[in-house]
Amino acid sequence: MENQKEVSRRAVLCGLAVLTLGLVPDKAIAATGVRVLANGKVDVTLSRNPALRKVGGVVQFTNGAGQEIALVRTGKAANAYRALNLSCTHEGQTVVKSGSKWVCPEHRAEFGINGDVKIGPAKRNLESIPVRVTKTKVTVG
Ligand code: FES
Repeated sequence: MENQKEVSRRAVLCGLAVLTLGLVPDKAIAATGVRVLANGKVDVTLSRNPALRKVGGVVQFTNGAGQEIALVRTGKAANAYRALNLSCTHEGQTVVKSGSKWVCPEHRAEFGINGDVKIGPAKRNLESIPVRVTKTKVTVG
């Protein structure tokens, strides 16, 4: 019961932070064509995610461990993708996309779209997760 109260209070505080900061998660980036594999890696089908056709495009999904992950197109090369764990490197709050950056609703750290820390209190970049790219999919993990 105590945990339910705490979760609820936290959800309310995060919601207020989002409203206060003007952060509205970009709903257009939810990935489709995502498949969690038995080994815990995740396949993202490129043809189902047109946002990844342009540099700076992002899709977001939850991996098998329940972590929020972003897949970012970082360049024009066919293999230019980066996967990011969206847990803030300060205290672990999930960052949200705001324009071309990631913003933490907890203490307002900011990260570039490729995960590089821009404004503290976070001191480390968002965690990069290995990717393997083929013509049809990106395997994350
Ligand atoms: S948890 Fe993200 S800035 Fe503190």
